[in-house]
Amino acid sequence: MKKTSVGVVLCAALAFSGSAVAADIPEGMGALPTKVPVPADNPMSKAKVELGKKLYFDPALSASGEFSCNSCHNLGTGGVDNQKTSIGHRWQRGGRNAPTVLNAAFWSRQFWDGRAPQLEDQAKGPPLNPVEMASASEAAVVERLNHAGYAPLFAEVFGKDGLSYDNMAKAIAAFERTLITPNAPFDRFVRGEGDISAAAKRGMKKVAAIGCTACHSGPLFTNNDFVAFNYGKDEGLKQVTGKAEDDHVFRVQSWRNVALTAPYFHDGSAATLADAVRIMAKVQLDRELSDAEISDIVAFLETLTGEQPQVTFPVLPRPRGATLNWKE
Ligand code: HEC
Ligand code: HEC
Repeated sequence: MKKTSVGVVLCAALAFSGSAVAADIPEGMGALPTKVPVPADNPMSKAKVELGKKLYFDPALSASGEFSCNSCHNLGTGGVDNQKTSIGHRWQRGGRNAPTVLNAAFWSRQFWDGRAPQLEDQAKGPPLNPVEMASASEAAVVERLNHAGYAPLFAEVFGKDGLSYDNMAKAIAAFERTLITPNAPFDRFVRGEGDISAAAKRGMKKVAAIGCTACHSGPLFTNNDFVAFNYGKDEGLKQVTGKAEDDHVFRVQSWRNVALTAPYFHDGSAATLADAVRIMAKVQLDRELSDAEISDIVAFLETLTGEQPQVTFPVLPRPRGATLNWKE
């Protein structure tokens, strides 16, 4: 919240009746936005979101019939699998930790290295990824969805002959844009509707004072930028671009819901939030934090857990009296 004049600060302090004094909240921090950006070529509609939800939960996207998006991005556990690195097709481990789908609509680019510009591009990856869902081809996925009985649902949203791989990705992306988590204790504090603990307030001031918020800035607690994180073996963005300057470059991860998404970092190597905070301070700011400072920062990060989307598990289309053709 910006301090424009003493008058504004005083009014805010009075209106908040002392619980959240605007002047206490470091510059730039704020409540989670309520509106997500929506691309012009994929407008939202109720039917599209419903279709996307079915696809999100449907293991028909995988060759084995065992893996859905929800297997690794479980909406019952903060949109992650809480695994160091995810388990996919034939029990294989992938190379990276699964980030949450919650609020993903707000990120500038998708993936730890940002290789997918937006949710539509991202959703086309997993069904064909050999260590994730391992379907043979786009055509194989479309054929299985057709066999399951999806054609009329796609027709309703995208018109006649609407069942295609691209439209599958569009529907999933539309569903993902509904997975936002408002009203975290911190957001309620910012709006003067509730309080956070004294430890959380100390943590809030500490992250601003020592410079965490140079990267983890604004209401999303990420500047959505890509920076070097010289830690671990993964080369990050360099693997995509081949450029030396992109070595170990990763997207600044949001702090929203971070208390739910252990273990941490692109390789899942930090088991606890306290470990992640300690390592970040050392690697990014060359600073040794005391246990008390870490515990205050963790208390603050815990106030960023928002209301989780209430999602009713969808009924999925299936052929009557027959199984789908799983080509394992
Ligand atoms: C086998 C586990 C697995 C499955 C199945 C899976 N994902 Fe992921 N997902 C991951 C991992 C691991 C990453 C991170 C990969 C990377 O950054 O290189 C990821 C990244 C993402 C991201 C990027 C989030 C961010 O913060 O950048 C989104 C969005 C996403 N997945 C959505 C989906 C959707 C939609 C599906 C179903 C079509 C799906 N995932 C299926 C494991 C999985
Ligand atoms: C120079 C920019 C920068 C600064 C400063 C910075 N971070 Fe980070 N932070 C990042 C990046 C980049 C990542 C993603 C790391 C990765 O790819 O594993 C990240 C990840 C994290 C994560 C793990 C998120 C997850 O989902 O796994 C936490 C927690 C975190 N930072 C906390 C902090 C704290 C606390 C501070 C201050 C002590 C801080 N960061 C300072 C750039 C920064």
